[in-house]
Amino acid sequence: MTDLNIFTKQKTADVSAALYGIFFEDINRSGDGGLYAEMLANRAFDDGVIPEGCVYSADSMTITSPTGWVCGFDCYEGEGIFGWKADGAKISLTDKGTLNSVRKRALEVCFNGGRLKNSGFEGLAVTEGESYRFYMFAKSVNAADIKICLVSDSGDELSDYCSLRVQGGYTRYECILRADRTDYNASLELSSDSGDTVTLGFTSLFPTDTFCGRENGLRKDIANKLISLSPAFLRFPGGCIVEGFTRETAYRFEDSIGPVWERRPHRLLWGYNSTNGLGFHEFLQLCEDAGIDAMYVFNCGMTCQARCPDYFDEPLVEEFFQDARHAILYATAPSDTEWGAKRAQNGHPEPFGCLKYLEIGNENYGGEYIKRYKLFYDRLKAEFPQFVYIATDHVERSGLHVDLVDDHYYADPLFFAANHDIYDDHSGQAIYVGEYASTIGCKQGTLMGALGEAAFLTGVERNQDRVKMTSYAPLLNDPMFTEWQPDLITFDNHRCYGIPSYHMLRMFAQSRGDYVCGHTLETGSSQRCDKGQTVLYYCGEKVILDSKTSQGTGAAYSYTFDKPADSLHLTFCDNGLTNEDQNRYELTAEGGLCRVVHYNGWSKHTVSQGKCDECLNAESFILYVDDKGYELCINGSPAHSGSFKPLPDIYAVCTADTNKNELIIKLVNITDREIDVKIGCDRELAATMHVDTLTGESPDSVNSFEEPLRVAPCEKIIEVYDNTLSICPYSVNIFRAKLMA
Ligand code: AHR
Repeated sequence: MTDLNIFTKQKTADVSAALYGIFFEDINRSGDGGLYAEMLANRAFDDGVIPEGCVYSADSMTITSPTGWVCGFDCYEGEGIFGWKADGAKISLTDKGTLNSVRKRALEVCFNGGRLKNSGFEGLAVTEGESYRFYMFAKSVNAADIKICLVSDSGDELSDYCSLRVQGGYTRYECILRADRTDYNASLELSSDSGDTVTLGFTSLFPTDTFCGRENGLRKDIANKLISLSPAFLRFPGGCIVEGFTRETAYRFEDSIGPVWERRPHRLLWGYNSTNGLGFHEFLQLCEDAGIDAMYVFNCGMTCQARCPDYFDEPLVEEFFQDARHAILYATAPSDTEWGAKRAQNGHPEPFGCLKYLEIGNENYGGEYIKRYKLFYDRLKAEFPQFVYIATDHVERSGLHVDLVDDHYYADPLFFAANHDIYDDHSGQAIYVGEYASTIGCKQGTLMGALGEAAFLTGVERNQDRVKMTSYAPLLNDPMFTEWQPDLITFDNHRCYGIPSYHMLRMFAQSRGDYVCGHTLETGSSQRCDKGQTVLYYCGEKVILDSKTSQGTGAAYSYTFDKPADSLHLTFCDNGLTNEDQNRYELTAEGGLCRVVHYNGWSKHTVSQGKCDECLNAESFILYVDDKGYELCINGSPAHSGSFKPLPDIYAVCTADTNKNELIIKLVNITDREIDVKIGCDRELAATMHVDTLTGESPDSVNSFEEPLRVAPCEKIIEVYDNTLSICPYSVNIFRAKLMA
């Protein structure tokens, strides 16, 4: 039995209205061909161009940046033209006479009775009755009649066709194609009898029915899926893509506005090109259409610190500073100013009122960051005091001012559960958990992943006076182009579904209340089992220790030394449930100090440390590990010990909704047992409650295109007897009860 006592008259925090947001980054091809409704792949023909300063290796299909970072490059133009296929026609790329100065390539086509095809991102999805806008910038010395049509894999026409006569210098040609059949593996086909060379400078195919009907807009189903999460804000455009891996690949706002064919492409460090069609303006437009706030993340003068960083010199830092400043002016300045006028020209005369948050850099840290943070913050804050400024490192510890610090966590579900209290003792600096996800052991997005995150979020909600905002990451994944898993929403060219975490987040974001109530929780704690391998590095040698004796639920490992050690390094795994490499404890004894550090995904936490003079002169060594902790005995005597964080059976947070006169109780059970939770409350609760439950057949249950709602919430009205709620195994539950007296 678990006891939960709730004190509605004890307000411990106000609910933070901005707690649940979304974070979009173009990863897993979630921009062009994903949220951004463009259907053609490589519409500007420059996907295969090697970024400036990088060297291509055909053997490994990689490029190496000037600072030595190696990343995948699988569409090199020397080996084919990504996205485009010729059938009877002759095609070649040219860097001469391109459409404009930002377009590095154009496509020369000699049709001569043949065809040119583009099947988008693994097939175009064409739906009967829907219309598609095609346009191209093309030139031809002599008149060439080009037939445009949507076709099936076997060449059958799926739409009406149009005929465009190309003649003279670059001109925009456009037509609407209406599909009379549905086919999810279609292609766009251009054909002509002309034997002359026609040069294509830029192409595009869009459904006319986009989110809010915007011409350069978003795929309706995906945009609606995002909005259905009831987010308070959108963080964009990244992520690591903001940092880039070379000077050229660092994100610049100025490349992302204006006519799409005049936008410089962006080589993303996730291994492909974005045409920047989903740019600063479109992100703000999405926020405005969805009625949510915008958070703009900008480069602060360095490339990604995890990828052989390049720290820009002062003039280049200044360029990036001005780029950030111009973005802000573009969003907010009146239309009779330079940047406001550009916005007006792009169809939005009024300032975008939705821009509220500015994040200086992404995952940047250390001295180089602090210098740049200060430079950006001081000047921007002086000119634009109205924004909320976010840092990516704890700059407040260096005496700098910041409104929010962005913490990121990628770890296994049990890390999240065990660290539900991570912000309990946190004081001072307000936090934005800008990226987090259960990644280890649940790449497909399992129920267990969602349970760990939900347990963590109960702690975040309890502390929402300090943790003001959160956003899960990443957001979208096309499984044909996965770079990173899990992602909140999986999509293909015509469908999308949410992983269990999506449903959990939707439940949390839609059940807020207005203040957090005090509570006490008495609950059991789960067993951790030590099943993993324990490895000792002794004087540089690796020894795999076998469990010799059993001690309760744990094990004892012993080792006899044959010479004094100069260093001792021991790795033992947490629970054997997940990848040991990603979830391990490391004990290091050196210089009279013994320290145990827990590594879980990206998190590193010192469990214990202390003096241990004998460590290195030991003759015998025994390590006892059980579900609660470990003890190291040197020469027969206890020398060092530490505890593992317990995993409570039940995690809880309670908020009150004053308007509805309701109590909202969120309860998460990560065990395989049904647990009764006895509720005590300082006010009488209605015996009839509304409950949403998210659970599944097993902790490994996932959703899929075939079964998109296999793990989805179910809603019930229940009668509560004896003030006891039965919480089923592996479940997230949100109860709503009327407050009676
Ligand atoms: O969310 C995926 C990546 O994780 C983001 O690009 C980055 O900020 C973090 O490293």
